[in-house]
Amino acid sequence: MADEKRKRILSGIQPTGTPTLGNYIGAVRNWALLQSDYDCLYMVADLHSLTVRQNPAELRRRTRELSALLLAVGIDPKEHVLFVQSHVPAHTQLSWVLACNTQFGELSRMTQFKDKSAKHPDNVNGGLFTYPVLMAADILIYNADLVPVGQDQTQHLEIARDIAGRFNNIYGDTFTLPEGYVPASGAKIMSLAEPAKKMSKSDTNVNSFILMTDDKDTIIRKCKRAVTDSDGCVRFDREQKPGVSNLMTIYGTFTGKSMDEIAAEFEGKGYGDFKLAVAEVTADALTPVQAEYGRILADKTYVDAVLKSGAERAAHLADRTVSKVYRKVGLLQLDK
Ligand code: TRP
Repeated sequence: MADEKRKRILSGIQPTGTPTLGNYIGAVRNWALLQSDYDCLYMVADLHSLTVRQNPAELRRRTRELSALLLAVGIDPKEHVLFVQSHVPAHTQLSWVLACNTQFGELSRMTQFKDKSAKHPDNVNGGLFTYPVLMAADILIYNADLVPVGQDQTQHLEIARDIAGRFNNIYGDTFTLPEGYVPASGAKIMSLAEPAKKMSKSDTNVNSFILMTDDKDTIIRKCKRAVTDSDGCVRFDREQKPGVSNLMTIYGTFTGKSMDEIAAEFEGKGYGDFKLAVAEVTADALTPVQAEYGRILADKTYVDAVLKSGAERAAHLADRTVSKVYRKVGLLQLDK
């Protein structure tokens, strides 16, 4: 974090399930690319994942695995900060104060809350309801300027801005108002089976997603089975040809080719050739990441040392914000 004037980025990803090609193209690949232009803080949001019941041993394992995967993708833990949310207690401390400055009505309107409540009617817990407040704390605690998030999180970013603005009005300038950040190459990748839906690791149909850890044969098989259409022409049209357009987006991401160039390349060829080409470039992109992932994950001591140092550096920044906020709202602080 050499240049003080660089804008600060914060983003988070939950350690639930193995990340998909959609997470890679839509999020973590960009996280790596953004490192050259911004000061970045990247977080494994383990506390957020508790809003849905988790198997404890699995959650612990996945937290370390996801951290290793982020390192494998190229997150540089020396220049930037990689940490686990629960390792920095200041997030939950700030979250309480922010919750006391957020209205029931605002939280009730969150579409993710409504969706997840419908999906898990037996576990509509308080954490699910205050989820956006913790997320606001994650962002505001570092005065992040930019927050790369997917479409499904933009409402949470909006509420973070609302909370920050309101707090600043009442208590004086405290928080930076964060902006959402959608990188040019941050395409949304759709399900291979139902291209109207986002690719999701929680989909029950395993052919609908490619995992970042899938081997080449699996990638080829899943691409071959991808739903297209009967028109037989490789042409980009999200409305009329969502399946083909999705595959073109994947192909374009890894080859740097425009949609027109891709259409020209496959003119007169069948979907079979096209799907195989998509599978090849995808496997070529993921194979080196997988090799690196295996190497890093085998060195648990290294991963844990990175996370420890990340937590210390993050806590240093976060604790300062919490002290300031505690003082502003009137909590008694004793001399150190
Ligand atoms: N809620 C985000 C998701 O599920 C993860 C997340 C937690 C996050 N805290 C964040 C993303 C702060 C951006 C900023 O995708």
